Amino acid sequence: MGTSEAMLQVVPGALPSQFHSGLCFDKSNSFLSFKYHVSNRKERSYGLMQQLNFSRTLRCCKRMLALNSIDDVYRGKTVNDRLDSLSCKCRQAESDSEVTAEVGNRIWINGAANGPNIKNIEGVQQLKHENGGLPSNIKVATAGTINNTLRSVSVDSIEDEAWDLLRASIVYYCGNPIGTIAANDPTNSSISNYDQVFIRDFIPSGIAFLLKGEYDIVRNFILYTLQLQSWEKTMDCHSPGQGLMPASFKVRTVLLDGDDSATEEVLDPDFGEAAIGRVAPVDSGLWWIILLRAYGKCSGDLSVQERVDVQTGIKMILKLCLADGFDMFPTLLVTDGSCMIDRRMGIHGHPLEIQALFYSALLCAREMLAPEDGSADLIRALNNRLVALSFHIREYYWIDLRKLNEIYRYKTEEYSYDAVNKFNIYPDQIPPWLVEWMSNKGGYLIGNLQPAHMDFRFFSLGNLWSIVSSLATIDQSHAILDLIEAKWAELVADMPLKICYPALEGQEWRIITGSDPKNTPWSYHNAGSWPTLLWQLTVACIKMNRPGIAENAIKIVERRISRDKWPEYYDTKRARFIGKQARLFQTWSIAGYLVAKLLLANPDAAKILINIEDSELVNAFSCMLSANPKRKRARIVSRQSYIV
Ligand code: GLC
Repeated sequence: MGTSEAMLQVVPGALPSQFHSGLCFDKSNSFLSFKYHVSNRKERSYGLMQQLNFSRTLRCCKRMLALNSIDDVYRGKTVNDRLDSLSCKCRQAESDSEVTAEVGNRIWINGAANGPNIKNIEGVQQLKHENGGLPSNIKVATAGTINNTLRSVSVDSIEDEAWDLLRASIVYYCGNPIGTIAANDPTNSSISNYDQVFIRDFIPSGIAFLLKGEYDIVRNFILYTLQLQSWEKTMDCHSPGQGLMPASFKVRTVLLDGDDSATEEVLDPDFGEAAIGRVAPVDSGLWWIILLRAYGKCSGDLSVQERVDVQTGIKMILKLCLADGFDMFPTLLVTDGSCMIDRRMGIHGHPLEIQALFYSALLCAREMLAPEDGSADLIRALNNRLVALSFHIREYYWIDLRKLNEIYRYKTEEYSYDAVNKFNIYPDQIPPWLVEWMSNKGGYLIGNLQPAHMDFRFFSLGNLWSIVSSLATIDQSHAILDLIEAKWAELVADMPLKICYPALEGQEWRIITGSDPKNTPWSYHNAGSWPTLLWQLTVACIKMNRPGIAENAIKIVERRISRDKWPEYYDTKRARFIGKQARLFQTWSIAGYLVAKLLLANPDAAKILINIEDSELVNAFSCMLSANPKRKRARIVSRQSYIV
């Protein structure tokens, strides 16, 4: 089949850079479809983007080889009914030249249950049994005496197993690796959307591949997800802002319309419109920018971030995040469930995790944006936001024993610019658990801040990424790690790391989660323990030159993660049980472990993820403080107007 042509079915959306020329429109099945020719131009065609809105499913055609073995084959009509498909014949996302569809050795990924990946997992398991039932690491652990040689052998075997599993989770599109499936659990019949590539879940996979020198999968992931970014997505006729990255996508194999002997692969993204609770994946675009920078730093290939379409992708994400709204604060205002915690957990508003990722993505984007006249306003807006955001978080989210005592004695109902208690926090809000729990040493950034509301829960990812991104000051960063050490029994316990602490219980659980049976106390998002967080912990520890903390956490993981089959999360206060509904062979548990190991072996490599504190920001920050020693009135930096 001629690979210079492809079918695009058109519905409201936008046009990616490489589909720009030779458009010939043709009405078919309630779609507008057209053929296009791939050419060397890389620019996104803004004119066309405005005129034409394209559907959001990317396609790759191929002749059908063994139809019966392909599950999840969508008949043309079903696909058409979705009114949202875009098709292209097999080509590499990054290639500007014509390519031929390579189908011979392709691996079909059509859902976890019947795919070849399962065989690989079974193979890995079988190997273990052939080795004597229990994996060698467990035998070593139960023997009690940990002989160093034996330990390193067993640890090596855990790592080997993790690599096998990670590779078995790879998803291919047109023969190219483009991501990793969320979980590959042969024991769970309810796949839900765990057979998809989640943007956030892929980050540790991508980092593991980068650290191993396998760059292609990351490059493909970056470029294919970029193509999904601009498609129109609707929920009950409403479209969220352009620039949103999907939460996840799936590779589907569908019959080619009008040709029963051929199939095509489609990339089908979910922007939250199919997700449970219809949650908006605000973190996806932020993680995408962070990974893009890591790719460039690790591979040395800056050509990807320099591409015009990639630059446009970065700007689209920034514009969405920097757009003016009704907000009084520099923090990003989001709905509940818009990040790793993607269910109702009372984190709507200005959750720390989003702010830390936002800050990190702003810094990464600033490093990568090509200086050009057109982006001056955007960069100005970005710089303003960085200063305001770091001031806001460092000042108002920080809590330690001294600050807690200050809040305890707050006066309320303070009108005027000189208010000390700016957000009108009533001291009675201080939860009894915190009074006991707050250690003399250490501190942390609270989960959320809104008018008359502080969410005092400790959220691990937000705190760790505040260290990694330098959103927290150096002192604060050390204090967060001090707290993790001081509260080891609660936060790390038998499996690192609690997603948040403590759990919502009783009436609070009923009201805040809406009686969510999956988020019962000490389970899942409600203070469950997530092994994947090990990698963020490791990066944070390396940045602060305290790798010993991460090493201790890894030892705990190695005691049981392989025996437990790499669960998604653990339950109970001490993380003693595999989570009630946890998937096994959860890819980001596997990849998180590998990243932690790789980084501890080569701490220098953590630089690809770390943002060093920016000296200009430090200056701006100290100017704000010195202009306002009592830290009462923070209207020092006049907001420059900018056009986005
Ligand atoms: C759960 C997690 C979410 C993750 C998804 C796929 O919904 O909360 O963060 O992306 O599973 O693993």
